[in-house]
Amino acid sequence: MQRIPEQTIEQIRTSNDVVDVISEYVQLTKRGRNWFGLCPFHGEQTPSFSVSQDKQIFHCFGCGAGGNAITFVMDIDNLSFQEAVSKLGSRVGIDIDIEPQTSESPKVSKDEVRMKEAHTFAMNYYHHLLLNTEEGEKALFYLEERGFSRELIEQYRIGWSLPKWDALTNLLERKGFNLVEMAQCGLVIQKENKNEYFDRFRERIMFPVHDEAGHVIAFSGRVLNTESQDAKYMNSPESLIFQKSKVLYHLDVSRPIIRKKQKVIVMEGFMDVIAAAKAGIMNTVATMGTSLTMEHIHKLKRLTDNVTLCYDGDAAGLEAAKRAAQLLVKNKIKTEVAILPNQMDPDDFIQQNGAEAFEKQIINRPQAYLAFMMMVARRNKNFQFENDTLQYVQEVLEHFVGNTSPVEQDLYIRQLSKETNISSEAIIQQFRKIEGRSIKQNTRQQPNTPPVTQNMTVSRKMRQAIDQAEKLLLAHMLNEVDIVDRLHQEHGLHIFIHDSYEAIFVRLIGFYDTYPQGDKHRFLEILEDIDLRKLVMAATLTERDPEHASEEVSDCLRQIDKHRIEIQIQEKMHESREAEKSLDMTRALMLAKQIIELKKSLSAM
Ligand code: GTP
Ligand code: MN
Repeated sequence: MQRIPEQTIEQIRTSNDVVDVISEYVQLTKRGRNWFGLCPFHGEQTPSFSVSQDKQIFHCFGCGAGGNAITFVMDIDNLSFQEAVSKLGSRVGIDIDIEPQTSESPKVSKDEVRMKEAHTFAMNYYHHLLLNTEEGEKALFYLEERGFSRELIEQYRIGWSLPKWDALTNLLERKGFNLVEMAQCGLVIQKENKNEYFDRFRERIMFPVHDEAGHVIAFSGRVLNTESQDAKYMNSPESLIFQKSKVLYHLDVSRPIIRKKQKVIVMEGFMDVIAAAKAGIMNTVATMGTSLTMEHIHKLKRLTDNVTLCYDGDAAGLEAAKRAAQLLVKNKIKTEVAILPNQMDPDDFIQQNGAEAFEKQIINRPQAYLAFMMMVARRNKNFQFENDTLQYVQEVLEHFVGNTSPVEQDLYIRQLSKETNISSEAIIQQFRKIEGRSIKQNTRQQPNTPPVTQNMTVSRKMRQAIDQAEKLLLAHMLNEVDIVDRLHQEHGLHIFIHDSYEAIFVRLIGFYDTYPQGDKHRFLEILEDIDLRKLVMAATLTERDPEHASEEVSDCLRQIDKHRIEIQIQEKMHESREAEKSLDMTRALMLAKQIIELKKSLSAM
């Protein structure tokens, strides 16, 4: 990837005023020296988002987001550093020649660019056929019947492919596209062993699929008549530009709305997404006929931690929702499930009951994850049979482990007891057993994670102290290259307790190598991760005493060391309890001695 000269970056940064840039996205009003507005990175009613013209930075006191004009554009438009600089460059008449890229593939090849161009061309052609030709009338009529307005058809660039073998193929060839390449990206198909090609999509309503940056990368074509022998939908094959496990339909449109609402609604079919758009619900995405993958989840997690699944109400839909929900919850996403009655899909429901009912009865009344899991577990079970009942309780309790607060446990266990006529005490006992087994498994799998940090036996006060110490230490590091050098030499890389601080420290060392003068703006820009940037912003805003830097630094290091010992003590105490339980008194005694030593060293600090 070609590098943008530092001079140009500097020039672009200084000629784009942070207030001007942000004003294009957020309404700002001046109060005192700073500008305020509603934070675009999290939903809020009262402005806690502030922009400083003097310092050329922004910061949200609500969610911690912060940075400068360039990182703002990176975050809000989901652009890489290069793309953001190029965008701001063209805003002030400095053109940088970089190719558009997605965050997944740092290098976009010429092949990809051409394939996307061909898709855009095909999209416009299909769209034209639907709206302006006699051949498209049947399809247009069908869409109108299904409640697609002209506006919606135009907005989603829906089209029609002719019942011919060579319509698009000929056009692409005439336009100078290479048919071998067109076959690779799925627009045409090569005849077996022949240098001849034909149209993949024929006689279908064409729905373009866009990537996150808004480029057309695939199509899904629907037959007009589902009675026909052909598959209802035909999708583009996997290609250099289209990978189902990565693509979320509509994300290019819904990204800013998802971020604003701090919620995304995930659906099974893109038809459902379009139906929801008819109803004015825009924070939606759909998978392209696959189940939800980790890659999808990573994409969503960058925007929000709240997901509502709105899958079809049939058995297959419930199964798919269950699997998706489990994966989401495992990835620490708050998941709810909006359930559709009578085997309907969202589109059916909106057709039958209207937009308002969909929003009020379905979207705004989702089930909590556990309630949904219980509902699914209950299906096809008859509590008259002991086996069914026991299996039900077991299944539900397994979902509880690791996913519930004590309050929720209490609530759901009482519900379980009521449903099954098994006493709460017996259910609790069973729960403890399952829980114990799972904890043992976890500690076996990850011998390196100190059990104390999981069990939260470290006091809140201690944790606050450590957070403060790490933040202050970073603040000093950001201001003095020498401190970073010295600590790196004396302590190596393992200075901080928390991984994210360590990640920043490692980047800072590399950064000071290239920028010994230590430009804080430039450092913010090289952090591609918004969470790391939040920590850096917080550190920048922390009060520190430059006169007494070395004293403050030593103090932070002492706090961190103390915390490490504290953790060791907790671990040994845990081990010693285990030893006592298994009547291994020699070991218990040895551990007790070690604990005393550790405590002594702690009080000597
Ligand atoms: P309508 O019947 O037009 O309302 O569509 P729908 O959204 O209700 O479709 P359905 O629930 O049957 O399918 C959901 C998704 O699964 C679609 O958006 C497609 O991605 C995929 N899908 C469905 N049928 C087929 C098929 O025959 N072939 C392929 N490749 N994918 C399909
Ligand atoms: Mn449908």
